[in-house]
Amino acid sequence: MSSGTLAGQVAVVTGGASGMGAATVRAFIEAGAVVTLVDRDEAGARRVAHETGAVVVVGDVSDPEFCDGSVDAVVATHGCIDVLVNAAGVIHRAAAPGTDDDDWRRVMSVNVDGVFYMSRAALRHMAPRGSGSVVNFGSIWGGVGAAGVLAYCASKGAVHQITRSMALDHAVEGVRINAVAPGHIDTPMLVSERDTPPTAADLEELAEATIPMKRLAQSDEVARVVLFLASEEARYVTGAIVPVDGGISAG
Ligand SMILES: NC(=O)c1ccc[n+]([C@@H]2O[C@H](COP(=O)([O-])OP(=O)(O)OC[C@H]3O[C@@H](n4cnc5c(N)ncnc54)[C@H](O)[C@@H]3O)[C@@H](O)[C@H]2O)c1
Repeated sequence: MSSGTLAGQVAVVTGGASGMGAATVRAFIEAGAVVTLVDRDEAGARRVAHETGAVVVVGDVSDPEFCDGSVDAVVATHGCIDVLVNAAGVIHRAAAPGTDDDDWRRVMSVNVDGVFYMSRAALRHMAPRGSGSVVNFGSIWGGVGAAGVLAYCASKGAVHQITRSMALDHAVEGVRINAVAPGHIDTPMLVSERDTPPTAADLEELAEATIPMKRLAQSDEVARVVLFLASEEARYVTGAIVPVDGGISAG
């Protein structure tokens, strides 16, 4: 068996083809886990898998049958699921008048339904076994509102409440459920879904104006916190929403 914080642990990471999900896959593999990467972006998933040795399952986390099937397949292959990380997410940048029904449903179906479907599928195995850990991706915008990202803020508020409520439901069974609440992280999502993508200078200005630490984070700085929450190092931590935001939420 390999050594490391997650030695021999069976982990599933959604959204593992890009950004913080991909950084989590790398961190988990380095920590000794056997990782299945779930993403709808097949090419991106295969790139990360080639680099890390993760197993790829291509699909859409907003499809409940896919979620049940992919988790059941991991358990059938490896005998259990120890860790689930829900990193898959999408954003729509608009206030209510610029958010049509499809925009709203798309954000809710991935960010909220996807977290629920994947977690439910994993908990069906973790709860009877009496062990396991789920780490969700919330956001600083799950705790406070932000202008121009209505559906996204609503979805991340729901992720924070799913995290707390599931933690209470499963604490007695020994299954822990936590979330990270990232601030502004340097990933493809940060510049996506905008009419004019921000330049490097725009992002520096944003950091200078809004982040106490005066810089964006890199994905691996969030993945380290995910690794901690997923591991036995955090064995007395459940229902926590951990900010990884360079100090924004302290203000
Ligand atoms: N980047 C930020 O500043 C920031 C801040 C706070 C929270 N977050 C959250 O962190 C998580 C990771 O974001 P990121 O910035 O790394 O984004 P990203 O866009 O780099 O990666 C998101 C991944 O999710 C996958 N995905 C999207 N919809 C999917 C679906 N229906 N089924 C399966 N996979 C799907 C994408 O293909 C992609 O690989 C997201 O939940 C995001 O909302 C990001």
